[in-house]
Amino acid sequence: MSENILVTGGAGYIGSHTCKALSRRGLTPVVLDNLVYGHPWAVQWGPLVRGDIADRALLDQIFETYRPAAVLHFAAFAYVGESVTDPGKYWRNNAAGTLTLLEAMRDHGCRRLVFSSTCATYGLPQQVPMSEEHPQWPVNPYGWSKLAVERMIADFGAAHGLEAVILRYFNAAGADPEGHLGEEHDPETHLIPLVLRAAQDPAQPVTVFGGDYDTPDGTCVRDYIHVSDLARAHLAALDHLNRKGAAAFNLGTGRGHSVREVIRMAEQVTGREIRPLSGDRRAGDPPRLVASGDLARRELGFEPEYPGLAEIIGHAWNWMQQGSGPSRG
Ligand SMILES: NC(=O)c1ccc[n+]([C@@H]2O[C@H](COP(=O)([O-])OP(=O)(O)OC[C@H]3O[C@@H](n4cnc5c(N)ncnc54)[C@H](O)[C@@H]3O)[C@@H](O)[C@H]2O)c1
Repeated sequence: MSENILVTGGAGYIGSHTCKALSRRGLTPVVLDNLVYGHPWAVQWGPLVRGDIADRALLDQIFETYRPAAVLHFAAFAYVGESVTDPGKYWRNNAAGTLTLLEAMRDHGCRRLVFSSTCATYGLPQQVPMSEEHPQWPVNPYGWSKLAVERMIADFGAAHGLEAVILRYFNAAGADPEGHLGEEHDPETHLIPLVLRAAQDPAQPVTVFGGDYDTPDGTCVRDYIHVSDLARAHLAALDHLNRKGAAAFNLGTGRGHSVREVIRMAEQVTGREIRPLSGDRRAGDPPRLVASGDLARRELGFEPEYPGLAEIIGHAWNWMQQGSGPSRG
């Protein structure tokens, strides 16, 4: 019988792509998602339990029914701006919710965890590319709520033998190359889908926040990693837990692309003209965020299969072009 893996937030963007990768590996993803942001159509490779990670009775039921060999924990809120105006919402969901999950894992003897952390735990970069050794001092409550969970995981490791791989993603982007899944956030704040929406509908232009940064073209530089590569990295993280135990890894490509570069590439991929609006800098937006992928390469054997911006944007565009097809609810 195939092993069950509990995937919290598995109806969301990165979680759903990871469920597909798990299933390809012969594992059964059991999704726990409250569907606040997730989509039932995105759960295609195993059962969906609709509910909240903070619901202890439901967690007990899931651990008893499915006896998962490990937990992949994606469920969280991830709107940086909202975390500044409504921090309680982020501390409650991301930190307190995770505490309930970790306690349930402890009590049911489930010791293996892969946690979706973020480059936002580093705060403003002191040097770029950023390695895992970079000091962690977030500049918003979202980043702090994720860093708090990293700390919680370390404490549960020391006290209860929890083994965890912490994955600090840079900017997830793209869509399933086979067109089964893609990004569908509402509201959408990520650059690539916003740029592609502007390509599709000039009445919804994209805004470039800040054009006077100390970067080659004045716009912010980010490290975009293909969502299917992130998904594969979770399989490598599970293998790492089996063989080597706890660790933390950055996940990026090690290449930075400016906002203007993304727009130019989106024009090439779509064959459409994109006319962005110019906006002010946003508080707390660092000029450059680029990962050092050395440790993940060395320890996880992780190498992105789709490191190129053209492919990342191409897959996202294919997904967007499908519109609301029959597979989407
Ligand atoms: N997208 C990125 O670029 C990025 C970068 C760094 C880190 N992350 C982290 O990766 C994870 C996944 O991100 P995503 O872009 O797929 O987000 P997403 O919003 O698409 O997915 C998150 C899912 O979690 C669910 N969820 C939220 N709170 C829940 C709760 N209390 N109980 C049950 N389900 C709950 C939502 O309904 C949603 O389906 C998040 O933890 C996010 O912080 C994302």
